[in-house]
Amino acid sequence: MTGSPPKRDLLSVADLQGDLPSILERAAAMKRARSAGDLSPTRPGTNIAMIFEKASTRTRTSFEIAMNDLGGHAVYLSPKEMQLGRGETIADTARVLSRYVDAIVYRAYRRTDMAELARWATVPVINALDDREHPCQIVADLLTLRERWPEGFRGRRLAYIGDGNNVLNSLLLGSALVGLDLISATPTAYRPPRDLVETAERLARGTGAHLTFTDDPRAAARDADALYTDVWVSMGDEAEKEDREKAFSGYQINAELLARARPDAFVLHDLPAHRGQEITDEVMDGPRAAIWDQAENRLHAQKALLERLLRRR
Ligand code: CP
Ligand code: NVA
Repeated sequence: MTGSPPKRDLLSVADLQGDLPSILERAAAMKRARSAGDLSPTRPGTNIAMIFEKASTRTRTSFEIAMNDLGGHAVYLSPKEMQLGRGETIADTARVLSRYVDAIVYRAYRRTDMAELARWATVPVINALDDREHPCQIVADLLTLRERWPEGFRGRRLAYIGDGNNVLNSLLLGSALVGLDLISATPTAYRPPRDLVETAERLARGTGAHLTFTDDPRAAARDADALYTDVWVSMGDEAEKEDREKAFSGYQINAELLARARPDAFVLHDLPAHRGQEITDEVMDGPRAAIWDQAENRLHAQKALLERLLRRR
């Protein structure tokens, strides 16, 4: 019996093993085409549903515009206004939405809920952030690095300073897949989970990427080609705010830390930023911030991802 190929989910950056470089290539081409006025409507008639349990500015907007550029349509759904918020199960929601749309974008509090949606949906599920990963963000980040390092990732060193959270987890896997050296400076108690680090280390063996860990932000920044940070208190971690602000107080990207990096080093932040905590105004608003290109690249990266995951109608 022949059927259609199995659906392909994007729950983790590791799901992009084998085709991350070609997705980055396609995203760069789509960015060039868009600036020349060609929106690349390669998926006309396709529809996605977007369930957001948490706030979003960039992810929601860039997915909606990406679908529009591809010739399709995105429906935004908030669980508060869905039957999901009144007790309808994730499984039933997945089965019904799969009858209407070609993919489901989901921002969830819990990875277990993400996995449950993916289990029951018969269309691709795209992780728009959960407590474990933020894969779409990292594709945009790698696109931003690739633009600044046209000769490739090899031999470059990225230093991540701050919380060992969803963003660092995906960054570890993404760096491993493209062969980028990543040094992570986090307080010891906030390091990424052991099993994720093991997966990243296994993937890194295939590309030669060096993944290293320290609790010393100054040592991490020394001679780095780029610095990256994220909030100290992620969505869902609000109850730990006070403890976290204490633990991370030395983990700020400021002019003094940036001076330890290479003279041409630049700074990334996935946003939203808590100015004055993980990053200063001076760095955010200074000439070495690549942050605004990084935010724009969410759009181009997601267009390439959607094109890859959505079947042609
Ligand atoms: N970086 C990011 O995912 O931003 P939003 O929370 O605004 O979507
Ligand atoms: N780590 C942050 C990323 C926000 C885009 C969070 O989960 O809130």
